[in-house]
Amino acid sequence: MSNNEKFLWGSATSAYQCEGAWNEDGKGPSQWDIFCHTSKLNINNVSADISCDHYHRYEEDIKMMAECGQNTYRFSISWARILPEGTGKVNPKGIDFYNRLIDTCLKYKIIPNVTLFHYDLPAAIAERGGWENRKTVDDFLNYAKICFEAFGDRVPLWATINEPKYYAYCSYLAGVYPPNVQDFNRFACVGYHLLLASAKAINEFHKHNYIGKIGLVHATGNVEVQGNDEASKIAYRNADLFYNKWVTDTCIKGYFPDDLFPKLKESNIDLSFVKEEDKPIFMNGTVDFLGANIYSRSYVKPYTSGETRININNVGANSNIREGVVIKGWFETAYDENVRRNLWGREIYPKCMYDELMELKDKYGNIPIYITENGHGCYDEIVDGKIHDDERIEILQEFISWMLKAIHDGANVKGYYVWSSMDLYSWVNGYKKRYGLVYVDFENDNKRIPKKSYFWYKDLIAKFEGRN
Ligand code: BG6
Repeated sequence: MSNNEKFLWGSATSAYQCEGAWNEDGKGPSQWDIFCHTSKLNINNVSADISCDHYHRYEEDIKMMAECGQNTYRFSISWARILPEGTGKVNPKGIDFYNRLIDTCLKYKIIPNVTLFHYDLPAAIAERGGWENRKTVDDFLNYAKICFEAFGDRVPLWATINEPKYYAYCSYLAGVYPPNVQDFNRFACVGYHLLLASAKAINEFHKHNYIGKIGLVHATGNVEVQGNDEASKIAYRNADLFYNKWVTDTCIKGYFPDDLFPKLKESNIDLSFVKEEDKPIFMNGTVDFLGANIYSRSYVKPYTSGETRININNVGANSNIREGVVIKGWFETAYDENVRRNLWGREIYPKCMYDELMELKDKYGNIPIYITENGHGCYDEIVDGKIHDDERIEILQEFISWMLKAIHDGANVKGYYVWSSMDLYSWVNGYKKRYGLVYVDFENDNKRIPKKSYFWYKDLIAKFEGRN
């Protein structure tokens, strides 16, 4: 890190998960509004219609970030707030809201880090095929241009898309996010279109003299494999291709990994969505930085038998669902009895922060990296007016120590964001799984109470900056 470049410490949210005001001031419905209001698959039967009401309380939230010593805030823009129909007429009140949000960040000396798409596709676009429809790529480009023109004079960090792979995976392979499809072919097509949309927006951004840099946010987790025989080595390569290189090679190097399309063909994927004319778009649409959301590693073993299937636990502590993945012909999840797990059965494995950062360095050299999300979800409670979230502190501390070690060992990390700034809606899980540094009392007027972890983070930032 050069001396004049300040390390960024912040926290993150996304529009649907925190804003509320789902139909206020001209906002159109998103795919998630419709899903939460109408789908039987919304198993926790709640919505983010109000959530923590960030739309009205953003100043209070940003002020708390500043008082914590945070110098950056990652949030996303709701596409349907800017363009209620996804295309066509711009909603001026939507533009006003994000102007206020950005200006409030700047007033408190907080650097805005803005994601254009964090899962909440306008319903009108979802109705005409969503990301399966190639036209959505240009609709996204049009929306991105509007945002760049409106906010590009003040936003230093942009991300095109949050977790293209994980979003496509949950929506089109696991089927737990709308439109709740389970189909490898449709998943592959959506994944391709998301990456193309990102590359097109980056091409556009780089044509202008905006003040900022632009990247893409990937759900990054290094792959580890259970054995070391030949089959295990193949499983490792397949899983790394599936989880990581598909996205990271494409957005950093500008082309898909050589083995991706042959492997997809082997799985009988119809690759007619891949067009020759897209090649220069990918090549010229590489990222200025990678946003890495790091929560856990992927522990895998060779594929044995059966159809592709994915179990995700969105229920919580009382569920007997064991999370796991079988990708037919590629790999399957291995279960490590020795690693501790959260209430949803996911591994708590902070060392993956170091392993992943060193792997990114090996694969992509000096590309700047922001840890755009890292967090710990659990059930928090108020005891004597306070939230003693010691487990979160312990886990985040471990993750951060591994990050600092990776920086020491040469990883080019520029910033770190805790997921999440305050408690908010967790996709499909609802409100019991909390990640915030600030507790939100959803039952009592959404009152904000800083958790113990908020004060721990404040202290950590101050120490890092040599202020105490
Ligand atoms: C990330 C997403 O993948 O994980 C966030 O970008 C999400 O939007 C976070 O909330 C935690 O996931 P979950 O399902 O536990 O809320």
